[in-house]
Amino acid sequence: MEPTLVEKKDQDLAFKVDVFKGLRSIPKSISSKYFYDDEGSLIFQEITQMKEYYPTRLEMEVFEQRKYDIVRCMASSEVDVVELGAGDGHKTKVLLEQMNEQDIKVNFYPIDISEKALDELLKNVSSGEKLKVHPVVGEYMSGLAKVCEMSKKPKFVLFLGSNIGNFGPGERVSFLNSLQKNLNVGDMILIGFDLKKDVRKLVQAYDDPSGVTAKFNLNLLKRINRELGGHFDPDSFYHHAFYNPLKGAMESCLLSSKEQDVVVDEFGTSFHFEPYEAIHLEHSYKFTLNEIEDMAQKCGFRVNQHFQGTSGGYVNSLWEVRKGVTSLH
Ligand code: AVJ
Repeated sequence: MEPTLVEKKDQDLAFKVDVFKGLRSIPKSISSKYFYDDEGSLIFQEITQMKEYYPTRLEMEVFEQRKYDIVRCMASSEVDVVELGAGDGHKTKVLLEQMNEQDIKVNFYPIDISEKALDELLKNVSSGEKLKVHPVVGEYMSGLAKVCEMSKKPKFVLFLGSNIGNFGPGERVSFLNSLQKNLNVGDMILIGFDLKKDVRKLVQAYDDPSGVTAKFNLNLLKRINRELGGHFDPDSFYHHAFYNPLKGAMESCLLSSKEQDVVVDEFGTSFHFEPYEAIHLEHSYKFTLNEIEDMAQKCGFRVNQHFQGTSGGYVNSLWEVRKGVTSLH
């Protein structure tokens, strides 16, 4: 099936503007949402298969061990399942198969910024008698708005993989608030949260010895080269990942290993780097159950249940849109 495409031109422009602003700021920074072009989505898929990168495995364990109970919470026999940042869909497949087992008719709307990721998803998940797949290429919110035009049934939103960890504290509250406003009372959302854990385990996952995460971050410089006529030499930058216990987040930067000026043709100008100067790229916040419950409460949701696997360390939290809430500001 042909995917629905949301405003590709706007996204290209936003990338251009954000890269320019980010390379002119002090300190330099570019949002990790720009990791996920087609190349980056493939490298991320490689990350999820590494032994050091535990979140994917832990979430899969939650689904395998708790799928019956998760799906049983869906109160309707016909549901529109919307996945924000669906990626290759191999975890979601477990839930969709369980919905099929429990005789629930599903329209599945996977939203992803990368068309290639959705092609991968369609290899894993295909339409059948009780399941119809409608892929949407776009960002979370514009994709969701598109889906809301098509969707008539109660919604079950999936926001998996601890993708929420990429938002800062204020960003995630406004994101969840606008998500809440787009949903109806009784609609549900299942969010994956990586829990705070031993720092050594975190650092291994985000600074793997085989260099896959480094390649993932450096792909952003290559993307600037590809799309904006950049002249970055990826070999003169290296990946640095660290845990910030005050923020409760893993962070990652690319450091310039020398003083250099990098021309970007599209801007007709160059950007100066001092030796060891950083471009900040990613926050991956880690959570506690209390923080998760406060967040739900603050954003107009009621926590229905936290699902964990026997290994722990990761939770899929099921929330329901509360009655009579018109958000807090
Ligand atoms: C896809 C955002 C959940 O933060 O763990 C993996 C991305 N970055 N390794 C994460 C990522 C470095 C990942 N998320």
